[in-house]
Amino acid sequence: MLATDIDSATASAAAAGGAEKRAYVKRIFSEIAPRYDLLNHVLSLNVDRRWRKAAIGELGVERDPSGSYLDLCAGTLDVARALSATAGFQGLVIGADFAEPMLTVGAKKVSRGKVAPVTADAIELPVAAQSLSGAIVAFGIRNVAGLDECLAEIFRVLTPGARFVILEFSTPRMRIVRAFYLFYFRYILPLIGRLVSGHRTAYTYLPRSVANFPVEEELARRMRAAGFVNVRWSSLSFGIAAIHVGERARSRENGAR
Ligand SMILES: C[S@@+](CC[C@H](N)C(=O)[O-])C[C@H]1O[C@@H](n2cnc3c(N)ncnc32)[C@H](O)[C@@H]1O
Repeated sequence: MLATDIDSATASAAAAGGAEKRAYVKRIFSEIAPRYDLLNHVLSLNVDRRWRKAAIGELGVERDPSGSYLDLCAGTLDVARALSATAGFQGLVIGADFAEPMLTVGAKKVSRGKVAPVTADAIELPVAAQSLSGAIVAFGIRNVAGLDECLAEIFRVLTPGARFVILEFSTPRMRIVRAFYLFYFRYILPLIGRLVSGHRTAYTYLPRSVANFPVEEELARRMRAAGFVNVRWSSLSFGIAAIHVGERARSRENGAR
């Protein structure tokens, strides 16, 4: 069966984190890969570039410019590319994603010496423990089946003192902004997404997955529960998106959550 045959009930169950989620997410991103970049910039009116830049700024790459960094759920490698182009950066960005077609599109945009695309699942990374100087995930963690397992896996691969940055959609709290946002997300975005990508359910899944993702305070709590310290978050564009930052404690800070 093609992904386009999957009805919206499956999209709904997947967005809610059902057993179908992993296979469904992998399939829709593999299918929309050729149109993903175009749709991203059109649907976000290009604001996504600014959000990614702000998130990359939170990684603190200047603290270890020759380290290895992880761009998790890297998709078409926009974050990996921008991160590797940061002034003074001399390290390596591992761009990990389980949808190979997304990485294939992205690989054409990056310099191989600076970015290494890797096909991998976010909850089972082929990376040694405590080997990375930082990790970032943009618009990806909401899609991972198993948020807590994913947080634990990121924690495992970071060196003490390294930061983990999450850029993700959230639901605005100001009533007027929320009303516009929900209208756009529920009606306009699925329509444009469907017309441009030709995919029947991918852009219906998106607003549902955002609605099912933990609110900012809850995500911060789950990060702390996974072991991260100095966890903080800030809202972007009236709460349409948020950046969370946490650190793997240096040993003397261990236990200080
Ligand atoms: C919305 S895209 C974001 C891509 C990119 N980070 C960006 O900023 O445009 C989400 C990506 O997460 C990937 N993804 C979802 N669940 C995953 C998992 N369990 N392991 C690896 N990648 C995953 C999808 O394949 C997809 O490429």
